[in-house]
Amino acid sequence: MQQLRLASRPQGELRNEHFALVETPAPRRDSAALLLRPRYISVDPYMRTRMRAEGYDYIERWDAGSVLSGWSLAEVEHSRHPAWQRGDWAIGHLPMQTLVAHDGTALRCQPPGDPPLAFMHPLGMTGFTAWLGMCVLGKPGPTDTVLVSAAAGAVGSIAAQLARNAGARVIVTAGRADKRDWLRSLDFATVLDHRREDFAERLAEAAPQGITLNFESVGGGVFAAANDVMRTGGRVVVCGLISQYQQADPRRAPPNMALLGERGVAVIPFVAPHFSQRYADFLAETTPRVTHGELHWRLDVVQGGLAALPEALIGLLAGANLGKRIVAL
Ligand SMILES: NC(=O)c1ccc[n+]([C@@H]2O[C@H](COP(=O)([O-])OP(=O)(O)OC[C@H]3O[C@@H](n4cnc5c(N)ncnc54)[C@H](OP(=O)(O)O)[C@@H]3O)[C@@H](O)[C@H]2O)c1
Repeated sequence: MQQLRLASRPQGELRNEHFALVETPAPRRDSAALLLRPRYISVDPYMRTRMRAEGYDYIERWDAGSVLSGWSLAEVEHSRHPAWQRGDWAIGHLPMQTLVAHDGTALRCQPPGDPPLAFMHPLGMTGFTAWLGMCVLGKPGPTDTVLVSAAAGAVGSIAAQLARNAGARVIVTAGRADKRDWLRSLDFATVLDHRREDFAERLAEAAPQGITLNFESVGGGVFAAANDVMRTGGRVVVCGLISQYQQADPRRAPPNMALLGERGVAVIPFVAPHFSQRYADFLAETTPRVTHGELHWRLDVVQGGLAALPEALIGLLAGANLGKRIVAL
């Protein structure tokens, strides 16, 4: 079977040569309670940070030779587990390989049939992150003006809709014309380009009274521009800083952070794994919204199996995706 590993630790831009697709013996049919065949694997910005020497403190770091892993949707090929049958769908974090032996722990089971793709996005980790950042931490309401950057991406697109559903005025940004067109087609009235040199001026024009909640996903100049227009008593939910992930010092704050202190702004950085006990609440609240079509969601499916994953991740880190990027196996 095939397995995708980190070949070497990237310094700077991630490239194909940092990955190794290797042939290894397949697990035996009876080597675990479940034998799973992954069909879709999520491609996420945090994967780049897992490849850094400092890594994260809540998830295993990837070193040269590590088998990569990701949020996956897999078909049960063989089951000796009383709660699972062949053809069921398994959802959870899995190693990036064509067959996975598993004991079923921390996996969600869905019945056989069409792949339950909503679990790869609005009901998966990206939807959960958007819900945590907006509904649990940012808590926008009708008096808020909310900025959501990278809003044509996975987390941003859901976060922006949640803020709008809560009655807020929402300013969204995206770095490509077709992404902005998609956001307009979802009836977002104020759609800006965060990659323009004059983004800060455009944002100030779009929010003459300032913003009260910044859902930050980009970092760098985009974060600094949001700080400049932040109103007294506002909030910043720091979801991510993607523009910095391939740089030498990826966790630095913008130079105008002191403004937030002067203005009494609450800064709320978060990572979804620290809130895993809220996943059931999230599913209970979000499943009806997805079932009734109240949340728009879009997948960016890259074909080509594990061999396509390196380019899919390299592309994601450069903004190639529209919607939630996943790889089909
Ligand atoms: N806190 C958490 O637990 C958590 C969990 C998941 C994700 N996140 C964070 O949420 C953010 C969005 O993640 P996602 O999974 O939803 O990804 P995504 O938004 O679907 O894809 C990443 C997008 O970032 C945008 N981007 C903006 N500036 C960029 C730059 N300088 N270089 C590269 N891309 C840039 C690109 O869109 P444009 O073309 O519009 O620029 C790109 O499509 C990331 O910061 C990620 O780290 C945080």
